[in-house]
Amino acid sequence: MTAIYPGSFDPPTAGHLDVIERGSRVFSELIVALLINPEKDALFTLEERRDMLEQLTAKFGNVRVGVFGGLLVEYARQEGATVVVRGIRAISDYEYELQMALMNRKLEPTLETVFLTAAEEFSYVSSRIVKDIARLGGAVDSMVPPLVKQRLHEKLETSAQPAPATVAANFVKER
Ligand code: PNS
Repeated sequence: MTAIYPGSFDPPTAGHLDVIERGSRVFSELIVALLINPEKDALFTLEERRDMLEQLTAKFGNVRVGVFGGLLVEYARQEGATVVVRGIRAISDYEYELQMALMNRKLEPTLETVFLTAAEEFSYVSSRIVKDIARLGGAVDSMVPPLVKQRLHEKLETSAQPAPATVAANFVKER
């Protein structure tokens, strides 16, 4: 049974990796599918995210990385996948996930959505929060794989802006 794990993965987190590992044990093949979404302002380019995901999933024999645009159900049909995997952290994720699952079912009744729960230590981890913490100079070690930590630092160095703490100190000094 081929399953698709779709997402933005900007960047991939330890929670994503945990779901990928669990999915790889449940399904015979798992496609980690990266959405091409020009509307969403991403920190990492599509190529950068694909490269990270490929390196991070290389150790799983039955996981591969794909890229898709347009409808997920179309991509699933194209790949012969019958299951969509999504990770659920807390009840707050459920409403959005239920809406997507029901919409995908409306579009393609044979495609099932399966929710996997990551380990509880990742229940508060999200790509958005990881980016915020890294931007503000906090430690993200327990939230992302070492490769992603390194790429985050490289990315934030090249788009370097003064740290908010420095801006605040200068503001106070200037007054
Ligand atoms: O990681 P994300 O951003 O929560 O993932 C969202 C994703 C990629 C699963 C969702 O936006 C998606 O499937 N987009 C493709 C367009 C589509 O099929 N939309 C209809 C279903 S809601």
